[in-house]
Amino acid sequence: MTPHRVAVTSELPGKAVEWLEAGCRIHLNSGPQITDEDELIAFIGAADAVLTLLANPVTDLVLAACPRLRVVGNCAVGFDNIDLDAARRRGVWVTNTPDVLTDATADLTWGLILAVTRRLGEAERFLRERRFRGWALDMLLGSAIQGRQLGVVGYGRIGRAVARRAGGFGMSVAYTDVEEHSNPDPPATFMALEQLLSTSHVVSLHAPLNKETRHLLDEPRFRLMPPGAFLVNTARGPLVDEAALVRVLEEGHLGGAGLDVYENEPEIHPGLLGREDVVLIPHLGSATVETRAAMAELAATNILAVLNGEEPPTPVVRPADH
Ligand code: DGY
Repeated sequence: MTPHRVAVTSELPGKAVEWLEAGCRIHLNSGPQITDEDELIAFIGAADAVLTLLANPVTDLVLAACPRLRVVGNCAVGFDNIDLDAARRRGVWVTNTPDVLTDATADLTWGLILAVTRRLGEAERFLRERRFRGWALDMLLGSAIQGRQLGVVGYGRIGRAVARRAGGFGMSVAYTDVEEHSNPDPPATFMALEQLLSTSHVVSLHAPLNKETRHLLDEPRFRLMPPGAFLVNTARGPLVDEAALVRVLEEGHLGGAGLDVYENEPEIHPGLLGREDVVLIPHLGSATVETRAAMAELAATNILAVLNGEEPPTPVVRPADH
């Protein structure tokens, strides 16, 4: 029997490639990331499966041009790079990598919350510029978070892991989601988005990107936030209207923003780059050695399951759904 062909769009950490190679013929991209549909089509060719990263646009065009594909194993929890309706229609499995990156992303979110409220980016620049002349009572004062409300937008795995850590910092938690959870874990107060925005000292985004959530935070909603409040986004850049964010920051309405993701990634809005009240990092939510290996291995496990005729552990689209 000819072995299954698996296209892998990037080199992978951990044992993922080894596991795939044990039973399949691998076509591995060691070059730059494939961000173009035609290049992706050429790369996948007649493969039975493709292991993708967020940069790879798995559009209807790509799926139509690769009719042998049985599974797209995305190495990410998000899947906004994949046309799910097209996959459903064409009978292709789509899988993602939830759970294994929850703690890493929640930790990084707290890193940003602390960095932006305590001005750590600005403080580090200050020191490296040799401007530190010794301890001073009024130097680089931040904003206390104890006793204040953290507003979590999207109470899924990562949002809840972020909320779980809030107790350690003495913050109360409000959340909003598509609907109220009957038994929120950890316990938190459900609020409509508008109420959450107008009462939270820090708002942290953990919603998926889709048609409904694009520009969820726009100018009118930023204006609901109390003066001096903070925004943190470790979910997806387009949840935020970045131009509106820059405007409200320029006006001094918000205390600052901690961003891991951007509207037009990897482009960064020029109005953000020069600001001291923003902390900007390059999409690092899940970036630990251990987590990235676990993500790649879960993506490989999903693909191997489908190719062996089994239910993959973490499906997003089942062909039977269509
Ligand atoms: C994801 O998994 O969706 C992240 O954005 C990358 O870890």
